[in-house]
Amino acid sequence: MANILAIYGSPRRRGNTSLLLQRAVQGAMEAGDHVDEVILRDLKISPCLEIYGCKKTGRCVIQDDFQKLYDQILSCEGIMLASPIFFYTVSAHTKILMDRCQSLWVKKYWLEEKSHKNKEQERKGLFISVGATGGKKLFDGVLLSVRYFFDALDTKLSHTLLYRGLDFEGDILKHPEYLEEAYVAGMELSRTIRQT
Ligand SMILES: Cc1cc2nc3c(=O)[nH]c(=O)nc-3n(C[C@H](O)[C@H](O)[C@H](O)COP(=O)(O)O)c2cc1C
Repeated sequence: MANILAIYGSPRRRGNTSLLLQRAVQGAMEAGDHVDEVILRDLKISPCLEIYGCKKTGRCVIQDDFQKLYDQILSCEGIMLASPIFFYTVSAHTKILMDRCQSLWVKKYWLEEKSHKNKEQERKGLFISVGATGGKKLFDGVLLSVRYFFDALDTKLSHTLLYRGLDFEGDILKHPEYLEEAYVAGMELSRTIRQT
C-alpha cells in the first residue's frame, strides 16, 4: 500500500479543484492506497522569509504547520496537488507552500541529499487545476511552476487534469465527466506508483 499526500490549495473548501481532488482521492483509495489529505487554508504557514536557515540541514527553521507537512512530503510516494488558477499561476496558499519547499530544493541541490534515492524511487505526482477563462495559454505559467516545484520534491509530474471555463463554486458539478476523469486519474496515480 502506497502513501499518497493530497494537498488542497484552494481557499474554497467545496470549490471546483477541491471537488476534483476529492474524487482523485477516492480513486486512489479504491486502488488500495492510503491518502493523507491536507487543506492548506486550515494551516498556519508563514511565507518563506529567505533567511536560508535550511542551508545546514535542508530543513526549514520556521516553526509552524509546515514542519508536519515537510515530514509528510518526505514520507509519501505520491503527491496530488490541486490549485485554482489565480493570475495565471497557483493560489497564494499553494505558492506559500511552494516557497517553503525551497528547503527541499536546498537539500537536493546544495546539500546533494536526495530525499529519494534514485530515479525509479522518485515520487509520482498529479496536478489538478481549473481556470475561469478559456485561453490557450491559461495553464502555461502554472505548469512551469508546478514542474519545478515537483522537481524540488523529487516528484515526477505524471498526471495532469486542467479544466477551462469553470468559475463559480459548483460549476464542476455540471461536468460529471471531469469528476470521473479525476477519479480515474487517482487510480492511475496509484497504478503508476506500483509500477516502479
Ligand atoms: C484572485 C483570483 C484570481 C483569478 N485569476 C484567474 C486567472 O488568471 N485566469 C482565470 O481563468 N481565472 C482566474 N480566476 C478564477 C478561478 O480560477 C476560478 O474561479 C476557479 O474555478 C476557482 O477554482 P476553485 O473553486 O477550486 O477555487 C481567479 C480567481 C480569483 C479569486
